[in-house]
Amino acid sequence: MTALLSIRDLRVAYRRDGVEVAALKGVSLDVLAGERLAIIGESGSGKSTLALAVAGLLPQSAVIGGTIGWPIPKSQTSHSFAPPSRPRDAIPLLGRDIGFVFQDPSSSLDPVMPVGKQIAEVVRTHLKLSWRDSYTKAKTLLQRVRLPDPDSALHTYPHQLSGGQKQRVAIAAAIAAAPKILIADEATSALDTIVQAEIVALIRRLVAEDGMTLIFISHDIALAASLADRIAVLRHGELIELGETHQIIEAPRHTYTRALLEAHLGLDAKPLLGRQGASA
Ligand SMILES: Nc1ncnc2c1ncn2[C@@H]1O[C@H](COP(=O)(O)OP(=O)(O)OP(=O)(O)O)[C@@H](O)[C@H]1O
Ligand SMILES: [Mg+2]
Repeated sequence: MTALLSIRDLRVAYRRDGVEVAALKGVSLDVLAGERLAIIGESGSGKSTLALAVAGLLPQSAVIGGTIGWPIPKSQTSHSFAPPSRPRDAIPLLGRDIGFVFQDPSSSLDPVMPVGKQIAEVVRTHLKLSWRDSYTKAKTLLQRVRLPDPDSALHTYPHQLSGGQKQRVAIAAAIAAAPKILIADEATSALDTIVQAEIVALIRRLVAEDGMTLIFISHDIALAASLADRIAVLRHGELIELGETHQIIEAPRHTYTRALLEAHLGLDAKPLLGRQGASA
């Protein structure tokens, strides 16, 4: 498989009170076209920082080094950008090239706008469709994420929906412009176990249907293993292990990965492999 993203020596530090605190300390990683890549690690290991860097969403306080190579198939050229001096057209555009699902759908959805309009806006902005066609597409998206009664769902507000339903809407908005990459940053962590399994199944189905590349971020190695082709393990801002899911589960090389496995599962992790979980 070819690399869709080539991350090289990515370094991110946050400036706080004149002091720089390193969050990523030189991470190099290829994200392969069409793969489902999980990034795992404990709280503070730099998972979100990596995701935000890829999506161009790091805050002003971030000091960035290294490169993220992003081939642009349209012009058949390949660019790298070294923030902050990256060329404009070489940046993968959030919404169009990258769909981003956050942990808390309430923070990504506008509380005072009907959900149909929020999805239609993404479609209109990135696919340059009319409002009418954008709403038709929004309805199809609500069907695809299996929101009950999509016709009336178009006109509901986020607060009228359950946590799981809100996350379904956020996912619909994230994939509305048919991005190549879907990044889910702890997208199921705030949900109860059953809803979590349903949302994981939904993500799995949508990624397969659209041939998207998935970057699935979680602190939960079991959840990551249920979904991913490969798993990358971050610790204190460093990539300490990267491999096929079965290799990471059956024969982790790093003691930290072993410790994560044991903490989550006890010693026998094999039942994880091939686990399918709930329906979408
Ligand atoms: N906006 C910010 N300003 C200052 N420091 C930050 C900021 N965001 C993250 N950090 C710090 O950078 C480091 C990595 O944080 P990051 O959020 O990437 O970790 P994470 O692996 O996503 O953690 P979690 O599992 O809790 O979401 C942490 O030490 C964190 O405190
Ligand atoms: Mg995080």
